Amino acid sequence: MKTENTVWHEQVITKEQRSAQKNQKPCLLWYTGLSGSGKSTVANAVDAMLFDMGCHSYLLDGDNVRHGLNGDLGFSDDERVENIRRISEVAKLFCDSGLIVSTAFISPFASDRAMAKEKLSEGEFIEVFIDTPIAVCESRDPKGLYKKARAGEIKHFTGIDSDYDIPQSPEIHVKTAEQSIEQCAKQIVNFLISKGFVK
Ligand code: PPS
Repeated sequence: MKTENTVWHEQVITKEQRSAQKNQKPCLLWYTGLSGSGKSTVANAVDAMLFDMGCHSYLLDGDNVRHGLNGDLGFSDDERVENIRRISEVAKLFCDSGLIVSTAFISPFASDRAMAKEKLSEGEFIEVFIDTPIAVCESRDPKGLYKKARAGEIKHFTGIDSDYDIPQSPEIHVKTAEQSIEQCAKQIVNFLISKGFVK
């Protein structure tokens, strides 16, 4: 627990120095969308493009983080809030290290996405709405979870019996049902180039 005896230490090397060494500006690509919408697939494709461009980036991915750091959390509203709180703290640290950071979590609640944005410096938070209709997600059903949720075997499934707040003004709006993964990834990388985060 944080107490009055806990003091923040400034580091000798700044975030700006770290990222300048890599010829990039740190930012956080915050992917949000339903299960099966393509968050991880698109985020991985972007990450691979950035890697090929010589950028220093890292992707924090929903299922993977739930295996370790957030392995104690389930899918109640409170646990999802805590999930996103921890992720946003980790993402902030990664941004401080000068990286182009990506997070791929459903992050269903607008208030939590706003909370993540507030932790970062002005302009660093980039909301990427992976806007795939639930009917398409359900037809893909890569893990068979929609089938289980419809059968009542999974409770609190996003889009079925748990809410998803549609982003109202995402910086990037991606439609995976209408474009290829490569087109989606290029759309995001082009945004980063146009805003001067990468060259
Ligand atoms: S959240 O809402 O942001 O806390 O969720 P996240 O950490 O991204 O985890 C989503 C992945 O967990 C699996 N899963 C569920 N998703 C939604 N609702 C319920 N109840 C659920 N139970 C398990 C599912 O594989 C999600 O992965 P993605 O990649 O989104 O399909």
